[in-house]
Amino acid sequence: FGRPWIFIRGVPSMDFLPPEGPLEVAFAGRSNVGKSSLINALVGQRGLARTSNTPGRTQELNYFVPDGYSGAAGDLPPMALVDMPGYGYAQAPKEHVDAWTRLVFDYLRGRATLKRVYVLIDSRHGIKKNDDEVLDLLDKAAVSYQIVLTKTDKIKEAGVPRLIAETLEKIKKRPAAYPFIIATSSEKGNGLDDLRAAILETISQ
Ligand code: GTP
Ligand code: MG
Repeated sequence: FGRPWIFIRGVPSMDFLPPEGPLEVAFAGRSNVGKSSLINALVGQRGLARTSNTPGRTQELNYFVPDGYSGAAGDLPPMALVDMPGYGYAQAPKEHVDAWTRLVFDYLRGRATLKRVYVLIDSRHGIKKNDDEVLDLLDKAAVSYQIVLTKTDKIKEAGVPRLIAETLEKIKKRPAAYPFIIATSSEKGNGLDDLRAAILETISQ
């Protein structure tokens, strides 16, 4: 993305959201699917979003923006990347899990400047029941989303096209789903150029 990105705000609940301004794209998915790692890989800054082996690392909506946007021709459009707490992690204290889940669902349903949600799916696990619940919510709220497969370095390379086809088949009747799937590995760099291009296209539409 051609310039340094900076963290501007961690949002623990809907009351603390920044005023609606530039368009946002958000990264949603089950705990540990690789949301924060993917943001770091996209911007090429290892330590920007905090990652962890332990699920439940990201506990707020974390806003990242390009530093020093100039507005010059050829510069990035103003935008924010939003790293989200994961869903589906039952090991943390129940009141935390409930608060994150409420925040994730309220934000996805109710943010006017949210242009697209990237719903991350672990290549080894495919779409799970709680992913389907999130997709149902996005379809109902008519919030545009695209599926991104993560950690493709963890499965056989030959299995990737089949996984893409199977996943497409599962979402093809979903009204708000973008009918194209991006397969990524933050570790190896696969799919990152495609995802950057998809984000820029979405933001500039
Ligand atoms: P929460 O914030 O807890 O919901 O997790 P998250 O979705 O932000 O996941 P995070 O980026 O913290 O990554 C979870 C674990 O998966 C870390 O140990 C990462 O190193 C690992 N991981 C993330 N992306 C990849 C990938 O592309 N390949 C491999 N092999 N591991 C990855
Ligand atoms: Mg995270």
